[in-house]
Amino acid sequence: MRIAVVAERRPGERRVAALPATVAPLVRAGHEVVVASGAGVAALADDDAYRAAGATVVDGDVLTGADVVLHVRPLLPADAGALRPGAVTIGFASPATEPDGVRALRDAGATSFAMELVPRISRAQSMDALTSQSLVTGYRCVLEAAVRLPRFFPLFMTAAGTVPPATVLVLGAGVAGLQAIATAKRLGAVVQAYDVRPSSADEVRSMGATFLDLGLEVLEGSGGYARELGEDRAQRQREALAPYVAKADALITTAAVPGRQAPLLVTSDMVEAMGPGSVVVDLAAESGGNVQGVVAGETRQVRHATVVGLQDAASAMPADASRLYAKNVANLLALLLDDAGALALDLDDEIVDAACLTHAGAVRHAPTRLQAGGDDVTATAWLTVFVLAVFVGFEVVAKVSSTLHTPLMSGANAIHGVVLVGAVLVTGRTETTAGLVLGLVAVVLATVNLVGGFVVTDRMLEMFRGREGRR
Ligand SMILES: NC(=O)c1ccc[n+]([C@@H]2O[C@H](COP(=O)([O-])OP(=O)(O)OC[C@H]3O[C@@H](n4cnc5c(N)ncnc54)[C@H](O)[C@@H]3O)[C@@H](O)[C@H]2O)c1
Repeated sequence: MRIAVVAERRPGERRVAALPATVAPLVRAGHEVVVASGAGVAALADDDAYRAAGATVVDGDVLTGADVVLHVRPLLPADAGALRPGAVTIGFASPATEPDGVRALRDAGATSFAMELVPRISRAQSMDALTSQSLVTGYRCVLEAAVRLPRFFPLFMTAAGTVPPATVLVLGAGVAGLQAIATAKRLGAVVQAYDVRPSSADEVRSMGATFLDLGLEVLEGSGGYARELGEDRAQRQREALAPYVAKADALITTAAVPGRQAPLLVTSDMVEAMGPGSVVVDLAAESGGNVQGVVAGETRQVRHATVVGLQDAASAMPADASRLYAKNVANLLALLLDDAGALALDLDDEIVDAACLTHAGAVRHAPTRLQAGGDDVTATAWLTVFVLAVFVGFEVVAKVSSTLHTPLMSGANAIHGVVLVGAVLVTGRTETTAGLVLGLVAVVLATVNLVGGFVVTDRMLEMFRGREGRR
């Protein structure tokens, strides 16, 4: 089998998807590993190191003819188009934000595995690249704050006097946030943290930081992730956080909600209230930012505060970021191979099933399928259903004698039963107030139709029974 390791083409990306340490076992297993020249240089793996591990180093295209392609950032659509049908790709695919890339993978007939779709279950921990890379970014963002802060992080008691420790406030205590807390603690800062998920409080405290109890209602979505806050709850949270932000020497924000734009936790007014020399590092800058006005890749001054929109944070530490990522990729690849080392995709396997983004010319991941299908296709499908429904409804009503319209109610009952089920499902899943209101309206209207239909049908039947009785 020919396994290709690409040189990342996105600006700012310095990681690599396979290192000599993960290439060597593949070569020993009898695979041909082809590495794009220079792919691992920033990660401290030069071409010779790959050659020593048994790989072939190629100047230029490695995709053509590859059975398996290992990458970090999503393949560019043009690159995905060069894949042969049935080729397997493993890497980040950004399915929520890069529909063109997903379509290109689908149209190429590739079987793509997206690292961000690997389920967060115990068995998949060794393949969880979101976690391994968040570890890197959480560590890195504290260093970014520390080098910009014109003060020490730790307490110093010296003959020349006592220097108090810096106060670091971390917002969002997921994997990156917890690593930021741990790193800031190691550097000796006094650390405070806040997260909407109540389960994070104990984790924060176990790291020696103070969990801020803002006295707000707690919110936790499914799978241990946060839910998007309603605007009112988000506003109250910002107001409650404002005094802590104002007192912090360094503010680090890491909050995210899967598949959504990063929540706004800190307004410009809050940043303007921070003291001289303060530093803000927004790890969520690339997905919209937790801090108002932040721009990914830019550092700007907001009154006293230096605000850093962190970009490519994991790539800032390409050696260790790649070491962890390459291992995640190798572990996922191993799951796709049988004992003889041949590709054997078991789509019934929970991890393989969840991580498989495209396969056999189709998008397998349902939420992405709607998006990658293209809005036009989706809109056309909905419009077709609507037009057909109107046509069928019109034909049924128009072609039936008006005296029989009321008995038609019984048929409508069945349809409204389905509508009611759909409305309940939509209401249960929605995360926005507008969705909830519309869902509840749909539930009420469908219920009225359903109950009304049964009542009228019942009366009709009574009427017919009465007639038969009189006869
Ligand atoms: N293998 C596993 O079981 C495994 C591995 C990694 C993470 N996890 C869990 O997954 C969950 C998500 O971790 P993640 O690092 O991917 O999270 P994430 O990157 O999706 O979000 C980062 C943090 O931001 C927080 N957040 C979101 N909106 C917020 C708001 N408005 N205000 C304050 N905080 C807000 C979230 O609660 C989360 O803790 C955690 O519970 C983590 O423990 C499980």
